[in-house]
Amino acid sequence: APAAAGPGLLQGLRVIVTAGPTYEDLDPVRYLGNRSSGKMGFAVAASAARAGAEGVLVAGPVQLPTPPGVQRVDVRSAVQMRQAVMEALPADVYIGAAAVADYTPRSFSPSKIKKTGAGQTLTVELVRTPDILSEVASREDAGLKLVVGFAAETDDVAGYARQKLAAKRLDLIVANRVGVPGSGFESDDNAMTAYWNGGEREFPPGPKVRLADDLVALIAERMRA
Ligand code: CTP
Ligand code: CA
Repeated sequence: APAAAGPGLLQGLRVIVTAGPTYEDLDPVRYLGNRSSGKMGFAVAASAARAGAEGVLVAGPVQLPTPPGVQRVDVRSAVQMRQAVMEALPADVYIGAAAVADYTPRSFSPSKIKKTGAGQTLTVELVRTPDILSEVASREDAGLKLVVGFAAETDDVAGYARQKLAAKRLDLIVANRVGVPGSGFESDDNAMTAYWNGGEREFPPGPKVRLADDLVALIAERMRA
């Protein structure tokens, strides 16, 4: 079994973690969001700080306490999250645990959108958001020694995770199967598997706090490899 993250495993390293969802505003009262509690990312940031890292946590809209010793930057949208991440670089490790919205409304309506007649439909045009993880992983000047992505998947979890590992040029991807009772999203527990080029590790299912320690231990291991 992997060692629990202990003091010193990430001593002196600067680690950026993104966590939570992003909200993409449509008008003053409505937004597009996604299901993410932020708990896994916050647990990872807390664990990295306990392991001696200088932790920066870029958090989407969640109501969670800031882990001790972590510098927190609150953002709302994908564009704001990208901006905060770029400002936090350079760093040694990047961990993209946020559930970033893939699309945002093409335009924000400063006035509340009023409904029209019964039976009428409303079409909202959406445009792609920036892929923060891919951009960070391809930046030569970011100083990064290890880039870690997350993927919540259904069906062929391992296949999709390995595709993302290659396509986004990551060093490590942590995948979890969604739609399984007692894991993911709002749960305190999770089940996950990490993949890297030439290896994988299945973490025993359990509390996100323990999984975060296991992940930090694996990150320290992969940095030495
Ligand atoms: N990610 C990101 N910026 C985005 C979308 C995703 O940084 N605009 C990051 C997430 O933080 C996560 C990883 O990319 O670490 C994988 O996210 P995921 O949604 O699984 O991948 P996508 O590339 O968006 O593919 P899809 O949603 O189509 O499966
Ligand atoms: Ca996505």
